[in-house]
Amino acid sequence: MAALPAERVAQAYSSVAGRYIELFGSVDSVHPDDLRLIGAHLGRSTGPVLDLGCGPGHLSGFLSATGSQVTGIDLVPEFLAHARRSHPAARFELGSLTELDRPDASVAGVLAWFSLIHLDPAGLDGVLAEVRRVLAPGGALVVGFFDGPVREPFAHRVVEAHRWPVEELAQRLHRAGLVEVERVHRPQDGDRRRYAVLAARR
Ligand SMILES: C[S@@+](CC[C@H](N)C(=O)[O-])C[C@H]1O[C@@H](n2cnc3c(N)ncnc32)[C@H](O)[C@@H]1O
Repeated sequence: MAALPAERVAQAYSSVAGRYIELFGSVDSVHPDDLRLIGAHLGRSTGPVLDLGCGPGHLSGFLSATGSQVTGIDLVPEFLAHARRSHPAARFELGSLTELDRPDASVAGVLAWFSLIHLDPAGLDGVLAEVRRVLAPGGALVVGFFDGPVREPFAHRVVEAHRWPVEELAQRLHRAGLVEVERVHRPQDGDRRRYAVLAARR
């Protein structure tokens, strides 16, 4: 039987987890303007914040340091073990962002930093509907993703991924009942692909 996409993603990241942590497992690898944006929307939150697809947990740790009560969720046990050691103030759970085990309106913020890129595009609307369900009124979502003129798969270094036109992702957020509050485009810079960030509120 073919592996489910989530299993394929988990296996692929597990097989490179040590190297990924070395290269990307620190806020030093995050653009300072992105850190400011993430902190502005999700820092100092008065309720729980979910870091969906938290990887090594550095952004969970960053947000925890602002006083937010953060739970990082990821498919990869190696990432979670590292995250728990490195960021004891945050909580970390093994699980999928496609199954948010949280009550309605119970969460103040959600970060999805380059994790929705690995979804089958047909699954995105369902995940956004779940994000909206768990967000409290006024709660914030921040999404980082690779963008491009058309939605298409591309040769991601770890496992299959899709780039999205910013406008299309923005419309999907809107259709899910989220109101866009910030949009940032970051052009290609050397080896780093172009990407975009959208912030929205319920
Ligand atoms: C490109 S990495 C980004 C990790 C982290 N957000 C960062 O900024 O370094 C993508 C992450 O999303 C996680 N991921 C992908 N699909 C997922 C799913 N369905 N549920 C939970 N995590 C998922 C992967 O395991 C991986 O850790």
